[in-house]
Amino acid sequence: MDIGIDKIGFYTPHIHVDMKKLAEARKIDPAKYTIGIGQDKMAIAPLTQDAVTMAANAALKILDEEDRNAVDMVLLGTESGVDHSKSGAVWVHHLTDIQSQARAFELKQACYGATAGIQMAMGHITMNPDRKVLVVGSDIAKYGLNTGGEPTQGAGAVALLISANPRILAIDPTSAMYTSDIMDFWRPLYSDKAKVDGKFSNQAYIEFFLRVWKDYQEKTNRSLDDFEALCFHLPYTKMGRKALGAVLESATAENKERLERHYEESIVYNRIVGNVYTGALYLNLLSLLEQGEELPAGSRIGLFSYGSGAVGEFFSGTLQPNYKKQLLTTEHGKMLNDRRELSIEEYEASFEDALPIDGSTRELDGQTDPGPVYLAGIADDIRQYMKK
Ligand code: CAA
Repeated sequence: MDIGIDKIGFYTPHIHVDMKKLAEARKIDPAKYTIGIGQDKMAIAPLTQDAVTMAANAALKILDEEDRNAVDMVLLGTESGVDHSKSGAVWVHHLTDIQSQARAFELKQACYGATAGIQMAMGHITMNPDRKVLVVGSDIAKYGLNTGGEPTQGAGAVALLISANPRILAIDPTSAMYTSDIMDFWRPLYSDKAKVDGKFSNQAYIEFFLRVWKDYQEKTNRSLDDFEALCFHLPYTKMGRKALGAVLESATAENKERLERHYEESIVYNRIVGNVYTGALYLNLLSLLEQGEELPAGSRIGLFSYGSGAVGEFFSGTLQPNYKKQLLTTEHGKMLNDRRELSIEEYEASFEDALPIDGSTRELDGQTDPGPVYLAGIADDIRQYMKK
């Protein structure tokens, strides 16, 4: 029985910053951001969007009545959780009207959370083939104004419906994983901004990728020849390019041409959204599927997931016939095109705006936010989620 991705929904907030203008404001050559880092635009989350609302907005794009009755597990991968106790998945379950005889919980391991959810979903569907699992990766990447990480911020969510007989990507059972306790990137409980050892994080990413890629090849006897395309966790698009380059050094000209061509197609969305942490790998996959040429059924795609701290995993899947029909290419394109550009002054002025943490009430204006689900404020330390 094939199990894998049956539907993919993507949500990113309605405002963004232009990277060239950010570079100019920081007195940096814009080519450093657009070529050196490889980013053109950076999504910004207004206060009315958090990990829960973005996850619900991504999931609402794909769920129909049949799905709502078949889903019995809701898994939210996030490192932007809104509560130390209650999982965001319970709110997502409620906001998307999924039937009640379900499990809902949150998974945390930096940007790896959604991959953990997919692997858990694979096991669940193996045992319960008539059920479906909703896995969402949803995050706000925030490093701070004038920091080295600033050009690698972003916000968004990718929702994946995992089922038997999937119509997009059947996931192969074999994968290769690697865990090692390192401090390349983390976020202490008292901080809303990530701490990072930037250069070390880049090195660790490549090291983990090469390890799991080697292990995967040994386990499966597959090589680059077996892959139509490789997808990567993308904190910024140059990072995946470096990882791809590391395996192309000894590749044939044919493999190099094919994999580099598909890499360009796979970064279209990431370039204009920025880092979405747990959803970044799946945004890379979505961009390949929606922005690339239609690939033959059975084409194998490799996926490298990396969550700082750190866990890496390489796994793969095969494309299903007519997968393009399952995609929301037009809707996603419209959402991205309809976004409003913030001036650098607007971005800076709102950067530190936050909900009160002293139990007081703050109401937010949801009318300025086109998202169907939004955060309407906080009262008595309880977040007020609303659906239009
Ligand atoms: N024109 C073209 N390119 C230029 C340029 C110019 N004028 N000026 C600089 N560059 C190039 C540099 O040569 C460099 O290229 P290479 O990496 O190929 O050498 C690139 O621009 C970046 O320059 P620096 O290394 O000098 O940039 P930096 O010191 O400001 O930091 C960064 C870059 C480390 C990515 C930083 O933005 C950062 O810390 N980001 C957050 C951490 C991160 O994303 N890490 C990724 C791995 S960890 C992970 O994946 C988990 C996660 O999601 C966070």
